[in-house]
Amino acid sequence: MNIAVVGTGYVGLVTGVSLSEIGHTVTCIDINEAKITKMRQGISPIYEPGLSELMLKNIEENRLFFTTDHTKGFNNAEAIYIAVGTPEKDDGSADLTYVEEVAINIATQIRRDTVVVTKSTVPVGTNHKIKDILNRNLKNDVKVNVVSNPEFLKEGSAIHDSFNGDRIVIGADNEKAGDVVEQINTPFEVPVFRTDIKSAEMIKYASNAFLATKISFINEISNICDRLNANVEDVASGMGMDKRIGSEFLNAGIGYGGSCFPKDTKALIQIAGNVHYDFELLKGVVNVNQKQQCLLIDKLLDRIPNLKGKRIAVLGLAFKPNTDDMREAASIVVTKRLIDEGAEVIGYDPIAMENAKSYLRHEMVYAKTIEEALENSDATLILTEWEDIKNIKLNLFNTMNYPLVIDGRNCFSLEKMRGQKVEYHSVGRPSIHYNREKLNI
Ligand code: UGA
Repeated sequence: MNIAVVGTGYVGLVTGVSLSEIGHTVTCIDINEAKITKMRQGISPIYEPGLSELMLKNIEENRLFFTTDHTKGFNNAEAIYIAVGTPEKDDGSADLTYVEEVAINIATQIRRDTVVVTKSTVPVGTNHKIKDILNRNLKNDVKVNVVSNPEFLKEGSAIHDSFNGDRIVIGADNEKAGDVVEQINTPFEVPVFRTDIKSAEMIKYASNAFLATKISFINEISNICDRLNANVEDVASGMGMDKRIGSEFLNAGIGYGGSCFPKDTKALIQIAGNVHYDFELLKGVVNVNQKQQCLLIDKLLDRIPNLKGKRIAVLGLAFKPNTDDMREAASIVVTKRLIDEGAEVIGYDPIAMENAKSYLRHEMVYAKTIEEALENSDATLILTEWEDIKNIKLNLFNTMNYPLVIDGRNCFSLEKMRGQKVEYHSVGRPSIHYNREKLNI
């Protein structure tokens, strides 16, 4: 099938590339000329394992095209995917400006019956608005239908997730339009769930909000475990064996970040508010997450009450491993606090360092290697569980001024750390005290 995808951000690009891989002819459209030129050469603007390889393959096999020209991109497209951003507005609601612009663009340019497929995460009711905008602005005598087809990919494993998803949700009020989208997706061989448009829109928000709730819940449990000297990892394993609970997304840490959970939880609170419903539980989830991002600072101040002039290494800057994405990363809050407290902060990330420079304070210093970050530092904070960091040679911590390690992602087993000359604090697990005195370094 001929397909156009508008927007080559994270969702749009992965969608376009995956659809070309299953045999469709896909044109990805973006207004950013420089980005399009690079993508034509198979260069991905984002770091995502396996993406560049699939891009190159499908470009070479003439199934994947890139253009800035909407008219050219829409020409002959039986389905047009909307995958532009829906950033967070100051009040937490989703900004739909880009989505609405694309809808007008589609309406004025299409010359054949078309199914418009919304991939962007949009508040419940938006697809009906999109349909109205399309119908009001149509220039030619064609029929247009709208289908909600939310995305469930995770950054860092998006290509794998595309071909191994748990479900494909298709929300359509017009059965034939829904059939078209089902047909497009058949080669993925992923179970399809069909519903109406509004329920599909809600499935996306409810899924992300539920996962965020699981994370905030286990983080609250971990804070209690901390105080009781219990081990949250064992608690999560024991809970997760109950099939009704499930073991995934029960990793305690320093809260969720990224472009989705923080934005979508706040948007759902707004969506509820718009229909006069106070989503108290979700408000709690958001508050807990904000509090959790500062956990390591509290643990550090407990050991080094005055951070002025102290050299603090921060390992891992991206919001999670296998991505260079810095959006809503805990490192933004943590490094700002450290700098405000007068510390000298030296950061390291295997992939996100370049991106980090535009998100973090200019006072930050960056290390080329983990070794360089650790040497002579007074404490190390671990914010992202990259494999490089998890596989660190533990005796490297002894190159620090004092081996105080505060791990926000429980990267090391307590058993392993007990054998080291390291003072080790993690999340929801008993601390290993190498020197119990308050540090006067
Ligand atoms: C999330 C969802 O997992 C995807 O299903 C969804 O499609 C996507 O949002 C989206 O709406 O586009 P993503 O933000 O890429 O995906 O990343 P996750 O792997 O879900 O992690 C989100 C955050 O939660 C990270 O900061 C991660 O460190 C944190 N997390 C995750 C935990 O703290 N504990 C866990 O057990 C799991």
